[in-house]
Amino acid sequence: MNENQKIDVLVVGGGMISREVILPTVFQEQKYGRVGNVSISSLTGDIIEELQGMFPPFKGYPDPGTHGMTQRYPDMFREAIAALPVNSVVIVATPDHLHTPVINAAIEAGRHAIVEKPLCLKVGEAHDIMRAANEKGIYVLTDYHKRHDRSIRAARYKFRKGLLGEMLHGHAWIEEPKYMALEVFKDWCEKSSPFEYIGVHYADAYFFVTGLRPKRLVAFGQKKYLPTQGKDAYDAVQATIEWEDGSVQFIQTSWVNSANNSAMTNQGMMLLGTMGEYWADHKDRNTHFATEAEGFDEFNPNFFKQYDSFDFPGETDNVGYGYDSIVQGINDVRKIITETAGLDEGKALERRREIISSMEETRALPGQALVGVAINNAVRMSADAGGRFVAFDKDMNIRFE
Ligand SMILES: NC(=O)c1ccc[n+]([C@@H]2O[C@H](COP(=O)([O-])OP(=O)(O)OC[C@H]3O[C@@H](n4cnc5c(N)ncnc54)[C@H](O)[C@@H]3O)[C@@H](O)[C@H]2O)c1
Repeated sequence: MNENQKIDVLVVGGGMISREVILPTVFQEQKYGRVGNVSISSLTGDIIEELQGMFPPFKGYPDPGTHGMTQRYPDMFREAIAALPVNSVVIVATPDHLHTPVINAAIEAGRHAIVEKPLCLKVGEAHDIMRAANEKGIYVLTDYHKRHDRSIRAARYKFRKGLLGEMLHGHAWIEEPKYMALEVFKDWCEKSSPFEYIGVHYADAYFFVTGLRPKRLVAFGQKKYLPTQGKDAYDAVQATIEWEDGSVQFIQTSWVNSANNSAMTNQGMMLLGTMGEYWADHKDRNTHFATEAEGFDEFNPNFFKQYDSFDFPGETDNVGYGYDSIVQGINDVRKIITETAGLDEGKALERRREIISSMEETRALPGQALVGVAINNAVRMSADAGGRFVAFDKDMNIRFE
């Protein structure tokens, strides 16, 4: 492996998705020689210290040794970005409403970025990110890992071959337990909602499969349980989206389900077209374990699971669409960096733009991620207004109908 092709990775945010998916992926890529140094920026030293006990060595911001455990450093990601070499990428895994400042700082510093979905929460912010990234030839991928689920890729493949005909309607459901809002996201559940946090996956899936753009939507939300727990947050949110061809998709979301479920996430999607249907339970992949140690477990081998490594006997590899999606971003950045190495800045900018534009059609770069952002923004607007229709224009600007 050519050393130049290794890139350094900075992960900003040390929460659930970083621990469970991003960092295991990044360190696995390091083991395979595709990632160089790793750094992690989080809010407080105690988070860094905890992560130091879980993963191979990395540089932490703030350093718990010198900056203490509990003092908050909300701007230290800027220092971490400034310390990155040219051959690097920033992975943004802060809460939904805090993606934009990190993305902007990365672009400003000329660093590529992979962002947890949603890209951001406001259409205006997405337009600004798109403009800035384009100006500087910076790659900004939104990690919509469901695009890598072979069940959803199959729907796209068959739809695009014409086997489903023209879309009529679709239904998707994605629901998680109460501990998500009350424990995992206790600091920011009021600023997001189950739709913005996870429902947007299925709005993006419809867009990914069909290529259609939304025309208008109406959304509803309920605040019944979480307010009794001191949180002014939506328990559940439902949206009905009319797409540009007149087809309609209904998405139901919640984060107050019971923890006594057979898997963390209820999820699935159906699509009906004039020539065929797609129906998939994305929770029940027809595999379960029932063990004394772990109880009953509906096992989804597709998402992100550990398997005995073929390459490192006795060790494990992480496998699945959660892994593939982040690796796609890392490899894209490696390609951009390799192909622009040694060029003067003018030529490098031109080449970066060419490579990025060749990826626009198949990736959730800002032009595509804008659709999910606009749907999220519109759902929130509609639900907050008690269910008023919100319409989209061709640039995904939104307004009440
Ligand atoms: N792809 C997916 O399916 C998926 C799944 C879960 C979460 N996510 C997304 O990933 C993001 C993070 O989710 P999470 O589950 O890890 O949330 P989390 O609340 O568990 O973690 C957020 C982390 O960000 C840190 N943070 C907050 N402000 C910061 C700042 N200014 N600088 C540095 N760090 C800061 C917090 O300390 C915390 O460690 C969210 O946007 C979420 O929607 C995506």
